[in-house]
Amino acid sequence: MTRDRERDVATASQAVVDGATVDTATGRLAESDISSQRVHSIFSRIAGRYDLFNQLSSMGIYRLWLKRVVRIAAARPNDRMLDLAAGTGDVSFAIASQSATPPASIRVTDFCQEMLDVAQQRYEAGAAGGVPCSFQVVDAQDIPFEDGSADLITCAYGVRNFPDRHKALEEAFRVLAPGGRYVILEFSTPPFAPWRVLYHAYLRVMIPLIGGILTGDRSGFVYLNDSIRAFPDQRTLARALESVGFTQVTWKNCSGGIAAIHSAVKPQ
Ligand SMILES: C[S@@+](CC[C@H](N)C(=O)[O-])C[C@H]1O[C@@H](n2cnc3c(N)ncnc32)[C@H](O)[C@@H]1O
Repeated sequence: MTRDRERDVATASQAVVDGATVDTATGRLAESDISSQRVHSIFSRIAGRYDLFNQLSSMGIYRLWLKRVVRIAAARPNDRMLDLAAGTGDVSFAIASQSATPPASIRVTDFCQEMLDVAQQRYEAGAAGGVPCSFQVVDAQDIPFEDGSADLITCAYGVRNFPDRHKALEEAFRVLAPGGRYVILEFSTPPFAPWRVLYHAYLRVMIPLIGGILTGDRSGFVYLNDSIRAFPDQRTLARALESVGFTQVTWKNCSGGIAAIHSAVKPQ
């Protein structure tokens, strides 16, 4: 890692714990609009091909990570679930259809209407296996729901895209009921250096190539590479969760730390 990049990741790490807005592509301090507009524009353009890209670029491994999310979330029959940055609904529908005891209801939310449109089409085709879902445009940094109105919150590949990550964690904490759980799936930092070098090379070269071919929008996938490399590591995200009040914060690495699943509890 170059000195500049190390400094940027350190800035982003400080910001997620202490609270400051960053440019999610670099980790440098910046107005939140820069990142929000860029991310919104990327996802509204690629919404229709997002699922195909996910499957091909991860060679199916993404499905295994989702299964772990379902296990760690351990939904209960009375849970009011809220999925933040839900995109096309993968986490919502995996939890609805694969949990031993599915939640009572799911609010599927995202700040990009085009992604939610795909989620809604999948729902209408039966993806939630009978669990009632509602769909709403929501910015995860400013959630329009009451305090304590959710028992389980999930967020997959969302936190990295929020310029104000600290505020987003505070919002999830506020909306959870006491005893409620927050489960975050996010790309992360492989602790074993040779694996990390290989992974970063794959991100830099293959992701823009595959993304460009499948969606015709290479720049969105250059952003994906940049934002993953500028995102704080597992330990820092855990500290940030604790800094807003969460307890029992743990994480499990997926595929040697390419991604990590954090889970945290709002105390009773
Ligand atoms: C990589 S996709 C992940 C989608 C889905 N969770 C999944 O697992 O496939 C990131 C999503 O985050 C959404 N997003 C980015 N910033 C957001 C924000 N501030 N509030 C809510 N959603 C946001 C994007 O619109 C996009 O749908």
